[in-house]
Amino acid sequence: MPIKASTPSSVLLVCLGNICRSPTAEEIFRQQAAIAGLSMKVDSAGTGDWHIGHAPDERAQRHAKAHGYNINKLVARQVSADDFRDFDLILAMDAQNLADLQSIKNGITNTDKKLAKLALFSEEDPTYGGDDVPDPYTGDGDAFEEVIERIESSAQAWIESWKI
Ligand code: 4NP
Repeated sequence: MPIKASTPSSVLLVCLGNICRSPTAEEIFRQQAAIAGLSMKVDSAGTGDWHIGHAPDERAQRHAKAHGYNINKLVARQVSADDFRDFDLILAMDAQNLADLQSIKNGITNTDKKLAKLALFSEEDPTYGGDDVPDPYTGDGDAFEEVIERIESSAQAWIESWKI
């Protein structure tokens, strides 16, 4: 597939806990990128520190698996300033995550290396553009299904945006 020169070679997906939305997005993005023939580093992290070292939430694992996404080996970590030097593009699942990431980015003073571009995960999505991927943590099964539906749509939109 011919792709734009501006296509990132690394993408970091970020939510609050890194146990529900962003690990799901990591696997969906990885699979969609592979199908599109894009060679890209894909990872995920959380703005919070409560779940560092934990596997994804069991409900997220179960719903992801039902759609063909195996996330049970992923391990939660917290986003850091280094991520802005290590990734080309950092995508926030919701507006609060975006604000928290922007303040980390604003605090980076030593900027000899180009810092990651920051955007909302839904930004390119013709269906869900500008929306949050809603936090499913206190929700029911439908909330986890909605997360998958929105992530599949918005990940596809990013990949489409990189095609020539
Ligand atoms: P996530 O969901 O940000 O999609 O991983 C959450 C997971 C944990 C918490 C909140 C949201 N928490 O408050 O512990």
